[in-house]
Order: sequence, then C-alpha cells, then structure tokens
Amino acid sequence: MAEALHVYDAPPDGANADWTIPQNWEAFGADEHAMWDRLFARQSEMLPGRAADAFLRGMDVLKLSKPGIPDYRELNARLTAATGWQVVAVPGLVPDEVFFDHLANRRFPAGNFIRTPEQLDYLQEPDVFHDVFGHVPMLADPVFADYMVAYGEGGLRSLGFGALDHLARLYWYTVEFGLIQQPEGLRIYGAGIVSSYAESVFALDDPSPNRIGFDLLRVMRTRYRIDDFQQNYFVISSLDHLLKVTVETDFAPLYAELELLPDIAIADILQGDEVITRGTQEYAEGTGR
Ligand code: PHE
Ligand code: FE
Repeated sequence: MAEALHVYDAPPDGANADWTIPQNWEAFGADEHAMWDRLFARQSEMLPGRAADAFLRGMDVLKLSKPGIPDYRELNARLTAATGWQVVAVPGLVPDEVFFDHLANRRFPAGNFIRTPEQLDYLQEPDVFHDVFGHVPMLADPVFADYMVAYGEGGLRSLGFGALDHLARLYWYTVEFGLIQQPEGLRIYGAGIVSSYAESVFALDDPSPNRIGFDLLRVMRTRYRIDDFQQNYFVISSLDHLLKVTVETDFAPLYAELELLPDIAIADILQGDEVITRGTQEYAEGTGR
C-alpha cells in the first residue's frame, strides 16, 4: 500500500482509541478551503434534477455561516438537530468494527484531509469532500439516518458470520452508488456518485451501465469495481422500502445462502432482474478512466 494513503494499522499518534481525532478546523489553510469551495460550487450547480429530493433537502445542513471546509462544531449543531447524527474526524480509513460501531452510534467518520488539485476528479480514498458533501446531506434525512444506524448494527453482527464481504456490497450499491426512482425519473442518492462530477452525469445519462431494480440478495451477490465508474447501478423504489426490507429481514439465513451461491459478475443480467436500463457496457470495453 502506498505510503501516501491515509491507511494505518492502529490509531496513529494523537488519535483516540475509537480512532477519532480533533478536527482542528483552524489548521486548514486558505488553499484547502478554496478546494472545498471549488468542489462545492461545481457539484451544487449540477445536482438539481439529478440528486434525490432527500439529498437536495439535506444540503441545507451544509449551508454554514462561512465558506470553506465545514467546521464540525457548527455542522453538527445542525445535523444533530435533524437526526441525532454527528460527523467525527478520523485520520483516514478505519478498521471495519470501528467504522460499524461509529455508525451504530450515529457518528459518521470523515477523513480529515482534502484532495489536492491533481486529484480533483479522482482519488483512491475518501477525503473530507466525499465524506461530508457526499454523505452528510442524506444523514439529515430521518429514514436514511435510521438505515445507516441499522447498517452499523448489522455490520457488527455480520463479523460473527464472516459475512462482511457480502454486506459490504449492500453498502456499496446503496450508500455509495445508489439510485432512487422518483416520479420525475431516476435520481442519485449514493455519496460516491454525488461527490463525483463525471459520475453524476454517467450514472443517470450514459447508455453504458445497467440500471437494475434493487433486490437484497441479488445486490449482496454482485461484485463491484472500485477503480472506475460502475457498470451496474441498483435502483430503490423509496428510502422507506430500503429501510423496511433491510431492517425486517434477518440476514443470518441470507448469509448462509450466500455462502452457497456463486458471485454475480459485474455486468451480468439475470433472469428475474427488474431491468430498468440494459447497458451497452461500451464504456467498460473502452480504456476506461
Ligand atoms: N437486518 C440485518 C441483520 O439481520 C441488519 C441490517 C439492517 C443490515 C440494515 C443492513 C441494513 O443483520
Ligand atoms: Fe463514502
């Protein structure tokens, strides 16, 4: 793993046992605040008509008294008032059980660094723009807020079944790359899409990817790629339905079933899929990014 990545084996110096660190907002420089503003302006201009209603409503919590990277003291006052959630700063990626424990307790861990100009459109690990701009608006939605708590609890439980890889796909295809059906058409709620300029267009408009109706077992069988645009997006009918089906399903028998079922290749379409768009996959066949 490249040393430049913010990946650690143990909480680094100055971090707490739960891996949190002080945000130390005063330490961000003018160039770092300017990077936030640049990304924020670009995304917020593009998202009306693309992002889910819940996301657009939730963006209000990001409208703080000053520009630049949000100061969590102010951000959390608004977010906690909405749904009881708060953002906590961490040095980079944290271990799975630490991550799940934070979610189960309504704390969203956010990387405490921002991308450089060279990384404007693509970086390998979540920075504060992805974590806060991408995730916080949905955490201000009461239904999605409960989904994320349930996911954290379910994540802790999954470790006992050795089922993390399957459960991680659910996170990937909902929290990170989820689409939702609204009366006017498909909209984005996944943080990985909403924080990416190019994928916000690709995910909705490009003929290449499949767009398939959400099915819990199907999603947990489906591989995904982490280094490029997705070849599949799964579409939920509503946040209420996503919450209901995940909370009311006991995953233990699903995990047992998943152990016997083969994975589904990234771009495959199965009989029984609710196909909303059958993708051409022409993007994936090209050189990619
Ligand atoms: N119901 C799941 C279980 O039995 C937990 C879960 C809820 C997982 C919501 C993901 C999302 O483990
Ligand atoms: Fe994320």
